[in-house]
Amino acid sequence: MSFTATPLAAESFYANKTEAYRDLAQQLTALIGDERDAIANAANTAALIFDLLPELNWAGFYLLKGGELVLGPFQGKPACIRIPIGRGVCGGAAATRKSQVVADVHAFPGHIACDAASRSELVVPLLAGDTLLGVLDLDSPVPRRFDDEDRAGIEAVAAIWVAASDHAVIAVLPPGATDR
Ligand code: SME
Repeated sequence: MSFTATPLAAESFYANKTEAYRDLAQQLTALIGDERDAIANAANTAALIFDLLPELNWAGFYLLKGGELVLGPFQGKPACIRIPIGRGVCGGAAATRKSQVVADVHAFPGHIACDAASRSELVVPLLAGDTLLGVLDLDSPVPRRFDDEDRAGIEAVAAIWVAASDHAVIAVLPPGATDR
């Protein structure tokens, strides 16, 4: 299989985000095809997001394992590995099961700075019905990079990954349990 994503110029992305996210969702669906491996699909999802969307410095997965978020497939600089539920933007999205849009991470109490270049952040929970599988995290070096359209677009991407993937490979253990 060969696959070539065409990166979007910032100008055309911001001019028509709805179409850009529709395009991203279509490309992701085509890229996944009938593959069910959750890690392989997460790796390609992170790569496609990072390749297509302008003004990002990090895009990737934190997966719920042993009651905390553990770094999964991503694109960008090396990142912190374990995030407790409730800590930082990622832990907040996991605790509330609600997407978090942070306009300025410097003004967000408890933000975990993995890459000093990050200025704004979008984190959406990965939910299979009532089961929390982890979060999908996007960082930008630009303040106020993410708005409600980005949130909706990345929630759709998260839903595609959840629906397409077999999550048995991810150790979903109750809080307090440990897989270490
Ligand atoms: N900033 C995140 C941590 C993950 S990194 O950005 C990759 C947070 O506050 O949860």
